[in-house]
Amino acid sequence: MFDLKNKVAVVTGASRGIGKSIAETFASAGAIVICVSRSEDALINLVESLKASGGNAHYRTCDISDGEAFTSMVKSIVTDFGQLDILINNAGITQDTLLMRMSDEQWTQVLDINLKGAFFGIKAVMRPMMKKRWGRIINISSIVGITGNAGQANYAASKAGLIGLTKSVAKEVASRGITVNCIAPGFIKTDMTDELSDQVKEKILKDIPIGRMGDGSDIASAVLFLASEEASFITGQTIVIDGGQIIS
Ligand SMILES: NC(=O)c1ccc[n+]([C@@H]2O[C@H](COP(=O)([O-])OP(=O)(O)OC[C@H]3O[C@@H](n4cnc5c(N)ncnc54)[C@H](OP(=O)(O)O)[C@@H]3O)[C@@H](O)[C@H]2O)c1
Repeated sequence: MFDLKNKVAVVTGASRGIGKSIAETFASAGAIVICVSRSEDALINLVESLKASGGNAHYRTCDISDGEAFTSMVKSIVTDFGQLDILINNAGITQDTLLMRMSDEQWTQVLDINLKGAFFGIKAVMRPMMKKRWGRIINISSIVGITGNAGQANYAASKAGLIGLTKSVAKEVASRGITVNCIAPGFIKTDMTDELSDQVKEKILKDIPIGRMGDGSDIASAVLFLASEEASFITGQTIVIDGGQIIS
């Protein structure tokens, strides 16, 4: 498949779910993978298992909504590895409730992690990528950022924001060999969707023409393609991966 040999890739939210699948896929493709989240134990376990399968993997703990922490982590990666080629802004949270009941804190926390965190990351990797005249930035949005969803105004706003951020930065850096794209997953089996009731899951499943929930690997394969050399003419795009949910 696609080859990421000698590429240094940072994957945020790698401790579980979609981010973990992306880290596994990247390690199999030969990348030097830096796994990032707030949970050290989960990252240690992941890095050990990636190494056991022959991967080149490392970890850093960081709260990506802390701009200073994210920026200094990126600097330390560039110092330690000499380069930073790929950034996957995957970390994200939900704080679902109807807008009428949504607190300022619920709004701010979701926007700070899902959208501002991506801004911090992109800003921090710009210089090393521009210097190398090569880079790949992939932001994990959601179909909810395209369709909206009752009870997720904060989450949908953050995910729609990521799509606008992607298009704008793509235009700013296109001439420097850096592409910026988004993936908009539908309903993917992870801890995030495990929280939903069986009733809600059944209802969503009925709206998915392909007839199943997605796996982390369904997202990771597309992320791998966008990160590869072969995707060098694709920028500013959002690829929907949802089993046909939003066309049904
Ligand atoms: N699952 C779906 O159906 C679905 C659909 C559309 C979009 N998405 C998006 O896909 C991404 C991954 O989702 P998932 O389902 O894999 O979620 P998940 O299983 O809940 O994992 C979320 C990841 O983000 C990390 N994270 C959260 N806040 C963080 C912070 N402040 N700093 C650093 N890391 C943080 C978590 O690690 P720690 O808690 O250890 O820090 C964890 O690794 C999210 O952006 C989500 O919005 C998911």
